[in-house]
Amino acid sequence: MFITFEGIDGAGKSTQVKKLQKHLAERGLEVLVLREPGGTPVSEQIRELLLQGKEDITPVGELLLFAASRAELVQKVIVPALDEEKAVILDRFYDSTTAYQGYGRGLDLSMLGEINRIASCGRKPDLTFYLDLSPEDAMIRKFSEKSIPLAFEEEELDRMERSGLEFYTNVRRGYLQIALEEENRFVTLDATVSPQDIHDEILRALVGRFPGLGY
Ligand SMILES: Nc1ncnc2c1ncn2[C@@H]1O[C@H](COP(=O)(O)OP(=O)(O)O)[C@@H](O)[C@H]1O
Ligand SMILES: [Mg+2]
Repeated sequence: MFITFEGIDGAGKSTQVKKLQKHLAERGLEVLVLREPGGTPVSEQIRELLLQGKEDITPVGELLLFAASRAELVQKVIVPALDEEKAVILDRFYDSTTAYQGYGRGLDLSMLGEINRIASCGRKPDLTFYLDLSPEDAMIRKFSEKSIPLAFEEEELDRMERSGLEFYTNVRRGYLQIALEEENRFVTLDATVSPQDIHDEILRALVGRFPGLGY
């Protein structure tokens, strides 16, 4: 079983991954939780470059680094785990590339489709849970986590924060477009309700696909 989680930062992916991991483990499954980019020594080094690095990276460079990290993770870790009948829960996968590099950064979507196919060795998740949250709500969550006072009116934001908001609005639009195109795999969830209500929705969808794994 291969399940992925998607959504912008702050949408609640980590929270739901933990709940689903617990649920599946209680059903007797061996569960492997991973997050992208990362999960192998090389992929973790690429993660450092992408997320902590101080250097500018071009959009295509960024795309190919994410793809390289994914190819490593899929071949070395995910495929072997699936072959051993483990449940793999992955926090972000190629839909993030489509949403962020495609809809967010404006890279060509058919090129991205081809790179995603290569990097994932043709593997598709059985189910993808997309936690849908507006960038504004995500920002409120993040600021409240860090107890930073929130400058919320557009005109009070600096240039970076404004472009951030526009970028994430495009990313969200991308996810919602994927939802239209991949309706059998991609489950859109309202991320504004309580974590437990979201978890219950996830279990409902899970049972639809894998009867016997519900409550
Ligand atoms: N359904 C929810 N409603 C309100 N707050 C939530 C919900 N789910 C998660 N949070 C909170 O929002 C923040 C981001 O959640 P997290 O699971 O880390 O998101 P992500 O992994 O997508 O960035 C955390 O402080 C978390 O406690
Ligand atoms: Mg997280």
